[in-house]
Formats: sequence, structure tokens, C-alpha cells
Amino acid sequence: MAGTQLTVGVLGAGTMGSGIAVTTARAGHRTVLRDLDDERVAAGLGRVRTFLDKSVRLGKLPAERAEQAKRDLSGTTKLDGLSECDVVVEAIFEDVELKRRTFGALDEICKPDTLFHTNTSTLSVTAIAAGSTRPERVVGTHYCNPAPLMKLVEVVHGRRTSDEAYQRTVRFLESIGKVTVAVRDSPGFIVNRFLIPFENNCIRALESGLGTVESIDRAVHFGLGYPMGTFTLLDIVGLDVHRAVSMSLYDQLRDPRFAPPPLVDQMIAAGQLGRKTGKGFYDYEDTTLFGS
Ligand SMILES: NC(=O)c1ccc[n+]([C@@H]2O[C@H](COP(=O)([O-])OP(=O)(O)OC[C@H]3O[C@@H](n4cnc5c(N)ncnc54)[C@H](O)[C@@H]3O)[C@@H](O)[C@H]2O)c1
Repeated sequence: MAGTQLTVGVLGAGTMGSGIAVTTARAGHRTVLRDLDDERVAAGLGRVRTFLDKSVRLGKLPAERAEQAKRDLSGTTKLDGLSECDVVVEAIFEDVELKRRTFGALDEICKPDTLFHTNTSTLSVTAIAAGSTRPERVVGTHYCNPAPLMKLVEVVHGRRTSDEAYQRTVRFLESIGKVTVAVRDSPGFIVNRFLIPFENNCIRALESGLGTVESIDRAVHFGLGYPMGTFTLLDIVGLDVHRAVSMSLYDQLRDPRFAPPPLVDQMIAAGQLGRKTGKGFYDYEDTTLFGS
């Protein structure tokens, strides 16, 4: 698939959908971003364009590649705007019934060989695929946040996923510059099994006064070699999303390390969700959802 221009549909223009749209448009694929209303589509397209412009300013992307990516990018509120897509990446709310219904509706619209990717963090790919009459085409592709910056995508073979769809998915992800790892269809896959307890431990350390937001972030970044501090990342992810992912894994695994600490609820109650609200563990003037 590398080198061939594909048409990629991205469902959901939120944090992950707009980040994924950056990676597909930047790699030269025609990209159609779909959300429920014009406002959300426009906000998502705006985030993609802002990120591309910033990449040019930072010398990370040639200006002509960014301009081409912007020309290849479009938005829609209509599901049938995705009828020509070779690949559809679903990044809508983490709700199994909603994801099932959405793939069922795509069956009516998309070409027979369209690949259906779900970016679920915690739900079973097999359970989501059960909503489609083409479960063999449904593959889990779990992008790390921020999607334009992080290389890894976990690729999940559901029980009914065909090997052909799985292999095409890996080739597609390589065509957009990703590194893939095969994971079992299990709660949290690999990354969130490690990351969520780690993040919750950092929050507990903050609650207990072990360090400040800044000192814990510096320790994680410079001492453990993580690309960014935990609180910087949590502000990008969003405290509401972190809580939902933690609770979903806690409910499925019954392991207390996944339970979100009380500070998370307090911050959500105060509307301090992270970058998207201008305040989380840090304060933000620029509510652009990705890091730099
Ligand atoms: N935030 C993260 O760190 C992260 C990381 C990896 C995976 N994920 C997963 O990615 C998915 C999206 O998460 P997010 O953080 O981007 O959420 P988000 O709330 O930022 O965005 C979700 C978007 O989906 C839209 N939407 C809802 N139903 C829709 C539909 N039927 N059609 C089109 N758009 C619809 C919403 O309007 C919203 O704009 C979830 O499954 C989440 O678990 C999130």
C-alpha cells in the first residue's frame, strides 16, 4: 500500500480523530474527517491545519507537503461522505453500542473491501465488530496520544478479523510512518495496561505531596526517559477521558491500580480537564490539543 494514495475516512473530529487525520493527510492520503455537526467538523479541521502549520514553522515538515495535505483534507457531517473510502478509522466516543451501530451503518455505504479500523482504548474489538456484517474487515488500531507525534499503533486482531485485513492494515499504518505491534484483543491492550496504573500512581504521588506537578513531570521525563511528563500528557489526553479509560479497565480487570484517584474527580468537577478547557494540571493560553 506504501506509495499509493488512498482515501481515508476518520470518524470523530475530537482529540484522536483530528490527530489521526494529521498523520494520514501528512502521509499523502486523501482524508475526510466526519463529525456530527459543522462546528465540530470545523474545529477538527482547524486543529489539523494548525498542527501542519506549526510543523512547518518548527522545520519538521516541508511547506509544500503541508499545503498538499491541506488540499487533500476535507470535512463532512454526512456518513455517506465516506462512501469512496478505502479505510475508515473510527475515533468516536468510547461506547460499544455506538461503535457497533456506526460500523453497521458503514456496511450500507462503503465498498466491499473497505477496511474498518476502530481506535478503541478499552473495548473488545470482537464485540465492536459484531455490529458489522463484515467482521472480517474490522481491525483494532490503537493510536497513542498525541497521534501526530507518537509512532506506535497497537494492532488488534479480533476473533473474526481476516489475516488479509490485518496484513493490509499493517501495510497502511507503515505507509503513514507508524510502528506497529500486534496485541491480543484484551482490556487495555499493552500500552494502557502499563500506562494507566503508572499515571494513577503519579497522581497519587501528587496527592500525597511527594512532589509537585513540575517536579514529578521532570523526574518522569529526564529520569525515566518518557517523551513528556505524566501531567503534560494527561492534560493532552483530558482528565475526563483518563477517568473513563481508568474506570473501564477497573470494571473489567477489578485491579485497584486502575481506579482513578479522587483528585481526578475534583478536577473534572472544577472543569479543569486539561488543554481543551485551558486548565488542567497546567494553565494554557493555546487550547490546541496536541503537544508541539
Ligand atoms: N484521548 C486519548 O488519549 C485516546 C487515546 C487512544 C484512543 N482513544 C480512543 O479514541 C476514541 C475517541 O477519543 P477522543 O479522546 O478523541 O474523544 P473526543 O471526545 O475528543 O472525540 C470524540 C468525537 O467523536 C464525535 N462523535 C461522537 N459520535 C459520533 C458519530 N456517530 N459520528 C461521528 N463523530 C462522532 C464527537 O462529537 C467528538 O467530536 C475513543 O474510543 C477513545 O477511547 C483515546
